[in-house]
Order: sequence, then C-alpha cells, then structure tokens
Amino acid sequence: MDNQAVNGKKIAAGKAIEYVRNGMTLGLGTGSTAYWAIQGIGEMVKQGLTVRAVATSVQSESLARELNIPLIPFSEVDRLDITIDGADEVDEKLNLIKGGGGALLREKIVAAATRFYIIIVDESKLVRHLGKFPLPVEVVPFAWELTQRRLAELDCIPHMRMAGDKRYLTDNHNYIFDCQFGQILDPAALHRKVSDITGVMEDGFFINMADIVVAGSPAGETRIINKPS
Ligand code: 5RP
Repeated sequence: MDNQAVNGKKIAAGKAIEYVRNGMTLGLGTGSTAYWAIQGIGEMVKQGLTVRAVATSVQSESLARELNIPLIPFSEVDRLDITIDGADEVDEKLNLIKGGGGALLREKIVAAATRFYIIIVDESKLVRHLGKFPLPVEVVPFAWELTQRRLAELDCIPHMRMAGDKRYLTDNHNYIFDCQFGQILDPAALHRKVSDITGVMEDGFFINMADIVVAGSPAGETRIINKPS
C-alpha cells in the first residue's frame, strides 16, 4: 500500500474517533483503516475514556484486547451507539462495497445494530459507481460449486478467494467468492439477486447503511460526506 493511502486512512480515522463519547457502546471495524481508529480509541481509553465495544473480526478483537478496550459479548448488546469501519468502495449515495478483508458478514451484523455508522476511507475509495472492486460474497462451503454457478449466472466471474494454496476461510468458517461485475448501476437490485441465491450467507453490498463517510486525503485533509436525504 502506498504511503499516501496510509496517510489518508490514518487522518480519516483520527477525525472519526472525535465522535466517540464517554459511556458509548462501540462497534470496531476491520482492516487497515479501522486499525487506526482502534488504535486511537485505545489511546483514549488509556487517557480515561469509558466505553464498551464489540469487534467485527477475530483480528480486531485481539487488537482491542491488546489496547485494553473493554469488550462485551453480543448477549449484552441491543444497539451500538457508533461503529467505525472501513470500506473498499463508496459511491455518491454512500452505498458501499465491503469485505476486502473478509469480515463482511460480522461487519454487516454489527452495522445493522448501529445507530450511527461511520465509514472511514482514504479518498481513493470514493467512486461514481461501485464495481471496480470485485464484490465479496460469503458462501457456505456445502455445495459451493452450485453456489458459484448460480453467481456466474448473474453475469460475473466468481473467483474463489485463496489464502496461499488453500481456500480462504472467514471467521465464520465460510468461503468467499470475489465477483467481478464491472460497473454496477443499481447496487440495491443486484444485492437482492445475490442474496436470493441459496448458499449465499451475505454479500459485500452495504446499501443505505452508512450515516457519514469520513474521507482522508494524502495531504492530511478530511472531508465529511453525509448520507443524501
Ligand atoms: C473488511 C472490510 C474493510 O473495511 C475493507 O476491506 C477496507 O479495508 P482497508 O481499510 O484495509 O482498506 O470490509 O472486511
């Protein structure tokens, strides 16, 4: 990853954690941008902030533990005040593609329980139309070949995600197909078609979920984009 993108990610994360207040229940995202937000929250906890959190992946959970951010089980959660997470692409309506880091299912469960969902990106992730980034689709391993064929019938090329010479496994022990659709003009309609396939657990479309997007530039500026009304 180039240094400019890293700077944009760090700066966006730094702005987003300004929304965190004492007493909040937080959702912690996954990926190299969310990493900076978790680091920042860890620093705030060190300075005396009192929060409780849930994580969207095993990786983010370990990081939160290392930083002494108090974690609670989902049995104690009804609604989260804020979740801060990254994204792979963000369109003009703040629809997202997520799941590049493989945590899409847990991320969507957490996002759906969140009152104020903040997405942090370096500005290169802002696009007019989604689709350059292949859509991650999490599928159950059982009969994955059939699920792959059904996905291909939607006019995409579904590539099994690999980790070295083994199939990549999500934290939920499922597979991921990265589906190259090309430019997607109606993400909501495509999301419905993908979700309708039996065997699909979740896709990486996050439609109408983000409340704000904080985009960071390499020069160190942040832009806050609100969900269109
Ligand atoms: C993980 C995700 C990430 O938020 C997304 O892939 C962006 O990652 P990064 O911040 O490393 O660019 O959805 O499943």
